[in-house]
Amino acid sequence: MYNIAVIYGDGIGSEIIKEAVNVLEKVSVTFDIKFNFNYFIAGGEAIDKVGVPLPDDTIIGCKNSDAVLLGSVGGPAWDNVPSAKRPERAILGLRKELGLFSNIRPIKLFNELESACPIKTRITNGAIDFVIIRELTGGIYFGKKERLQKDGIAYAYDIEEYNEIEIARAMELGFATARLRNKHVTLVDKANVLETSKLWREVANKVHEDYKDIELDFLYVDNATMQIILNPNSFDVIVTSNIFGDIISDEASVLCGSIGLAPSASLGETSLGLYEPIHGSAPDIAGKNIANPIGSILSVAMMLEYSLKEYDAAKSIEIAVKNVIKDGLRTKDIAKDSTDHLVSTTEMANAIINYIKK
Ligand code: IPM
Ligand code: MN
Repeated sequence: MYNIAVIYGDGIGSEIIKEAVNVLEKVSVTFDIKFNFNYFIAGGEAIDKVGVPLPDDTIIGCKNSDAVLLGSVGGPAWDNVPSAKRPERAILGLRKELGLFSNIRPIKLFNELESACPIKTRITNGAIDFVIIRELTGGIYFGKKERLQKDGIAYAYDIEEYNEIEIARAMELGFATARLRNKHVTLVDKANVLETSKLWREVANKVHEDYKDIELDFLYVDNATMQIILNPNSFDVIVTSNIFGDIISDEASVLCGSIGLAPSASLGETSLGLYEPIHGSAPDIAGKNIANPIGSILSVAMMLEYSLKEYDAAKSIEIAVKNVIKDGLRTKDIAKDSTDHLVSTTEMANAIINYIKK
């Protein structure tokens, strides 16, 4: 029996996470795995109901679970709340409280979705497959930040800081991931300017001593954003800091057709992980039953793989997703061809559920 903490979040969160839970219900019957779902609130919903974005109950509930499934938080309704109380504090707080220091974001273009990829086939050869590993509990996101007045002038700062332990554990995961793939790690940084990046390179080289079978190279982040478009198949595993990872993972995700397809796993020292699609709460399409549930459904597959070690069940979800894409089913975000069969959130999820088999 696995205890799963479920947080819908805001915007389209409840629509897509309900479908991800439905997928787990089907997995439960098919593979005889028991799940116990415990629901918690976070983000804008929590601000409205209890006045804080991340209630203690939610933190405790998540800590006592085997895995956490999260939709997405935030929206224009909370744009004017003070920054310490913004919905986004919920996700940052959860990552920190649960010690989830690395974030895995796979970037995979399915052959059948080529027409939804914004770059030319002569560049992709019809497929893209790399992984971004983003450091998740350090850097400028968590460094000291302040707003003040200096000589009557408004002034603010956010400090980017890293220590060698934080860097080493991200690099370890990068090398270990590459060992199961094409044995190539690219560290994305800004070592021509930033002191933190110079430390990243030193530590990366040190950790590399234990992974001599893996090729390690370095790329400045500005160049990396170009290479992701010009030469996406030159990457296998990218390892990078919190803020660079945030930015390049949105860029890379659209190569797969839509950010709506992209899952993520946030991991720490234990098997407890947090799984969320990488897209946001998309308030503009909330409640319309048109959001793409695949990012959440593939996040559940990652949960089965990384936290619960239920590999067959994880594989069955990936195969089911491939099948519906092959069948031409498309939510609005990935519908590009006249032959595409446009479906709603629920229709897409039901089709995937139908394909889940032992
Ligand atoms: C993400 C999101 C978050 C981040 C926001 C919501 C704080 O953009 O998971 O990529 O910046 O990490
Ligand atoms: Mn982001």
